[in-house]
Amino acid sequence: MATRVASRVESLASSGIQSIPKEYVRPQEELTNIGDVFEEEKKEGPQVPTIDLKEIDSPDEVVRAKCHETLKKAAQEWGVMHLVNHGIPQDLIDRLKKAGETFFSLPIEEKEKYANDQESGKIQGYGSKLANNASGQLEWEDYFFHLVFPEDKRDLSIWPKKPCDYTEVTSEYARQLRGLATKILGALSLCLGLEEGRLEKEVGGMEELLLQLKINYYPICPQPELALGVEAHTDVSSLTFLLHNMVPGLQLYYEGKWITAKCVPDSILMHIGDTIEILSNGKYKSILHRGLVNKEKVRISWAVFCEPPKEKIILKPLPELVTDAEPALFPPRTFAQHIQHKLFRKTQEGVPN
Ligand SMILES: [Fe+2]
Repeated sequence: MATRVASRVESLASSGIQSIPKEYVRPQEELTNIGDVFEEEKKEGPQVPTIDLKEIDSPDEVVRAKCHETLKKAAQEWGVMHLVNHGIPQDLIDRLKKAGETFFSLPIEEKEKYANDQESGKIQGYGSKLANNASGQLEWEDYFFHLVFPEDKRDLSIWPKKPCDYTEVTSEYARQLRGLATKILGALSLCLGLEEGRLEKEVGGMEELLLQLKINYYPICPQPELALGVEAHTDVSSLTFLLHNMVPGLQLYYEGKWITAKCVPDSILMHIGDTIEILSNGKYKSILHRGLVNKEKVRISWAVFCEPPKEKIILKPLPELVTDAEPALFPPRTFAQHIQHKLFRKTQEGVPN
């Protein structure tokens, strides 16, 4: 137990250190482009698009098509967007955030009762990144990770028992987000000239698409210019939905530069993941992104990764989207094979970023 407590970034951050251990210091080539996130957030230039979903299922065909078109453009050009008028009640989102914040405000010893054990394959629970490459590189974050949908695949015994409404609120958010995922996949399908239910079916449908919640906790960092909360990666998921506590941190690699996402009130940030990039034969983009930390405010984010089943589905560009002029850009792979393929770089297996 003692070694586990020592490995938490939160305990490191609260120990009063002025400089961070070398495992958290990024390689030289990365250090040149890590700036102060609050300054970065103010910068002008290209911005992550904001998509208004109010009319996503409007009965008026013209109005609906106009909404779909904005979504399509953002998915093609950026692969990431702020969703507004997404239909999930703000009150529910506020309660979800409160529940996660309350859990993370518990003493570390209390949270350790939920510790995962990645080496034995128990990936759900409270954890921190383990070094898995020769350099021993670590990220400045702790997290809580667990499956939230479909409901029959959950393991409620490992969910936080404090606060007492954690399970109720998180379950309701997962249900509502699952509905939103169906709507988005439907619109993205129609925009590719496919039947509305096509992408939903290709990623596993109601029974097999897995929604995994990862609450990311980024403590204050004494040397934020040397560290990353999350290193650069693309999401392997189909879609990822992200909430945060209005502290900036997310950066997107767009047109050769790191762009900092601004905090947009009452929005949900959504990524197109590798799975949709593959199925769409690269028409929709899975964008490279990373997370900065800072020395003033704790950042918390709630990511829900919508993942296809590991083995049951072979992911490959849909035949309708492959032509002589546009050949398949990706080889057929199961989701597990896709993760394995990426792993030969640095990503930690099991718990996604
Ligand atoms: Fe990510």
